[in-house]
Formats: sequence, C-alpha cells, structure tokens
Amino acid sequence: MAHVVLVGFMGTGKTTVGAELAKRMELTQFDLDDLIEAKLGETIKTFFAREGEAKFREIETEVLDEYLDNEGILSTGGGVVMKDLNRELLKETQTPVVYLRTQPNKIMDRLSGETDGRPVLKNMTSKRFNDLWQFRAPLYEEVSDIVIDTDQLTPKELSYEIMRMI
Ligand code: S3P
Repeated sequence: MAHVVLVGFMGTGKTTVGAELAKRMELTQFDLDDLIEAKLGETIKTFFAREGEAKFREIETEVLDEYLDNEGILSTGGGVVMKDLNRELLKETQTPVVYLRTQPNKIMDRLSGETDGRPVLKNMTSKRFNDLWQFRAPLYEEVSDIVIDTDQLTPKELSYEIMRMI
C-alpha cells in the first residue's frame, strides 16, 4: 500500500510536497505523470497531442491502479479525479488520500504563462480555468480523507502537517 496519495489541481505542489514527504518519511516517491511518461516512452504533451485526452486518461487509470499498491508516496496528476473509475480506486484504497487545496487565484498566478508540458492549459482562458476548477474542486473533496489548505504553508511545512494528520 502507498503510505500517502496526494491529489489536487495542477500547480498545487503535489510533486514538491510529495518529495518533501518522501524524504521525511524515508519512502520512495512515485509521481504518476513520470510513471505514465515512462510507460509511454514519450512525454504526456506529445502523447496528448497525438492521441487525445481520452487515451491519456486510460493510461492514467492503468498506472494509478498499478501504483496504488506500491509502498511510498504517490503524487497524482490534477486530472486524476475526472474518471469515475479513478475516483472509485481512490475511495477504496486504505491509503490516506490527501487533497492539497489551493485557492484558484493562487493557482492561476503560479500557472500563468505556463503551458509547456501541461496540455490541459493550452488555449486556457480564465473562464475555462474557473469552470474546470469549479468542476474538479468537489471531486478532490469526494476522494480525499484529509484536506489541507496550502496557501499559507511552504512545502516543508505541508509535509509536517500531513505527517501530523495521517
Ligand atoms: C493534468 C495535469 C497534469 C498531467 C496532465 C493532465 C490535468 O499533472 O497529469 O497534463 O488534467 O490537470 P499536474 O497536476 O502534475 O500538472
């Protein structure tokens, strides 16, 4: 079993906090996006552009299912909650699922100007961003056991807070 699964929107620090947590808990960090890229043998960006989002989501489900049973810290991609099956997997796992909740204006600041590597941000308008956030926010809450507001905390502080709460 993974010890902690991190979920949250793009730009909430899942990878960075996962690395801090892995260091402090002396566990391996698994990053779902990296694992997907290793399985594909190419970047998410190029795969997404050629095959489309639905195909990407299929692979994402396969890798999630495979790694939920690995011991370590699992950082997921922001869209992992989009599929019902993924949400079921996340709800069923015995591993604590932690939602890193960041306010949308903060996320927008962090992601502004950044589309490289994140195909979902391509041609993103603030309206589409807000719609996506509104759609996804309740889904992160639905799958998580613990919700942590990230806005006032550094990745290091967040890792301590997660360790205190699990
Ligand atoms: C996605 C987020 C990305 C990555 C993919 C799709 C999304 O991960 O899985 O580009 O739909 O929000 P990060 O949350 O690590 O950026």
